[in-house]
Amino acid sequence: MEITTDPVQMITFSNMTEHDLLEVVEIEEQSALSRWGWAAYYAELQGINKSLMMVARLADQAEAAKTNRVAGYIVARLTAGDLHINNVAVRSEFQGRGIGTALLRGVLAAGAHLRATAAFLELRAGNTAAQALYEKCGFLPAGRRRNYYSNPVEDALTMSVKLKASP
Ligand SMILES: CC(C)(COP(=O)(O)OP(=O)(O)OC[C@H]1O[C@@H](n2cnc3c(N)ncnc32)[C@H](O)[C@@H]1OP(=O)(O)O)[C@@H](O)C(=O)NCCC(=O)NCCS
Repeated sequence: MEITTDPVQMITFSNMTEHDLLEVVEIEEQSALSRWGWAAYYAELQGINKSLMMVARLADQAEAAKTNRVAGYIVARLTAGDLHINNVAVRSEFQGRGIGTALLRGVLAAGAHLRATAAFLELRAGNTAAQALYEKCGFLPAGRRRNYYSNPVEDALTMSVKLKASP
């Protein structure tokens, strides 16, 4: 993914590097996502899915110095021609600015560029904010997995979207 800048939000979007991982793990821990941890992200960055790992950074260096540099991230994987969205999270203080939408659209475009024909994900049934984000990006409900999550036990909703091949 090429670096782009949103002049309104002052956020840049780019591929994740190992220098981002301490903050990525910090955001993961604050977001109550299923835990990957530093080593798992690092290992994923060494493989073929590294172009499907992206971060949103604060572009305003003054603001970045006052807060944290990485505002959010997304991690996906290409498996047998399908794109699987694994984790997406935005720091709570930067939520509601369109960062999650931009990260998701970015990774869907990267997946289409790699000739993925559909994207899939699962989420906690009670995660209405994430469900709204996914629906906004075209995902439709695909099924439900009973008691899929632990700590706390909760059903998973599965969602999918067809992808158009990029030129
Ligand atoms: C889900 C998450 C990534 C959304 O990031 P975000 O940057 O706030 O998302 P956006 O600002 O792009 O909002 C996209 C849409 O999501 C929905 N949304 C976002 N926050 C919401 C909230 N608190 N309640 C309800 N809907 C919400 C809205 O439909 C919004 O679209 P709109 O602004 O046009 O109304 C963020 O809430 C988050 O990090 N949550 C914790 C981690 C998580 O649950 N990840 C998903 C795991 S499957």
